[in-house]
Amino acid sequence: MAEDKKLICVVGATGNQGGSVARRFLADPRFAVRGLTRNPNSAASQALTALGAEMVRADLDDAAAVAAAFAGANVVFSVTQYWEPFFRPDCRAAAAAAAGVSCRRYAYDVELRHGKNIADAAASVEAGLDANGFLVSTLSHAGKCSAGAFTDLYHFDAKADVFPDYLASAHPALAAKTSYIQTGFFMTSHRILPESYFQKQPDGSFEMRLPIAADRAVPHLDVNADMGAFVHGVAQMPAAGGHYMAAGTVAGFGEYLRLWAAAAGVAPVAAAYKHVAFDDMVADTADRECGVEVALMFQYAADHGYDGGMDLLTAEDIRKAGIECPMTTLEEWMARQDWADVLAK
Ligand SMILES: NC(=O)c1ccc[n+]([C@@H]2O[C@H](COP(=O)([O-])OP(=O)(O)OC[C@H]3O[C@@H](n4cnc5c(N)ncnc54)[C@H](OP(=O)(O)O)[C@@H]3O)[C@@H](O)[C@H]2O)c1
Repeated sequence: MAEDKKLICVVGATGNQGGSVARRFLADPRFAVRGLTRNPNSAASQALTALGAEMVRADLDDAAAVAAAFAGANVVFSVTQYWEPFFRPDCRAAAAAAAGVSCRRYAYDVELRHGKNIADAAASVEAGLDANGFLVSTLSHAGKCSAGAFTDLYHFDAKADVFPDYLASAHPALAAKTSYIQTGFFMTSHRILPESYFQKQPDGSFEMRLPIAADRAVPHLDVNADMGAFVHGVAQMPAAGGHYMAAGTVAGFGEYLRLWAAAAGVAPVAAAYKHVAFDDMVADTADRECGVEVALMFQYAADHGYDGGMDLLTAEDIRKAGIECPMTTLEEWMARQDWADVLAK
């Protein structure tokens, strides 16, 4: 590790969010990048090694290993993954074996534990971190922002229960060095919810079917291209403590569909938006429990805002501070995709 460089330790470096962050900081000669992974030999790890990253083994279930991986860090990026323990067959089996624990709740418990382990490990290296050196990916707290109307939007609350809540109570000195980065709807999410985003109708037209009004504005993020740029921008902000929303466009899903049709060459009349009921989205989703979790998210975004009505800093605020923060618009992202698979459904 070059001694004249700052060290950023990136949790989830082989994934969408962390991968974008790792690549952006690798392109900054002032930084050395250490990525955390369960498998330094995976193709994704090896690709980062080839770019100059140091990949180290650390399972988020092993707090001591995470603390060791953070040794010497000036900056730490944190992300936790709800959906892996949600879908993994062994986790499904473990949830089923534990009476009264749904797979949605099981994944909440795992994500919460991982988040606390990251926070505890970062606290052990807090003295060496920059004043704005703990950059955490999170979401709004659905339970609190809805005043208790949403009690089980687990993949939101698992993040917000740790960042900021657990952090503030368990590690106030680290909290003082922390910035909170909420992430918009990934523009790629149609791949996870193909029947809700682009449902092919018998006449060959497409229907977008979501339980939210077409014009209810939500943030959209090109996670792979832009999460790194956004986090890199936040790292240069003069003060910690900010709450941000990483997004390239804020628009309703009606606009998402309109831009898609234009980019994919589909006539506007052959791409219809339908504001469906909660149960319709559940029925459209192959995995019922996944359908419930995502339908709750759209319902929450409809009723309280995806950000829970929080007043968040944006890429524009970062740019106003004189810091570069290039973001991809939904229109630009749509134009770069190959829509052949979706059209050929
Ligand atoms: N889809 C959306 O629209 C959307 C919007 C906002 C927020 N989100 C949130 O984004 C999160 C997922 O982020 P992502 O897309 O970047 O995830 P991802 O691409 O699946 O990557 C997950 C990363 O976490 C690492 N990881 C997972 N379990 C680990 C463990 N036990 N120990 C160490 N590392 C572990 C993986 O590393 P290895 O496999 O190399 O070990 C991988 O690098 C979810 O929590 C989701 O709720 C999604």
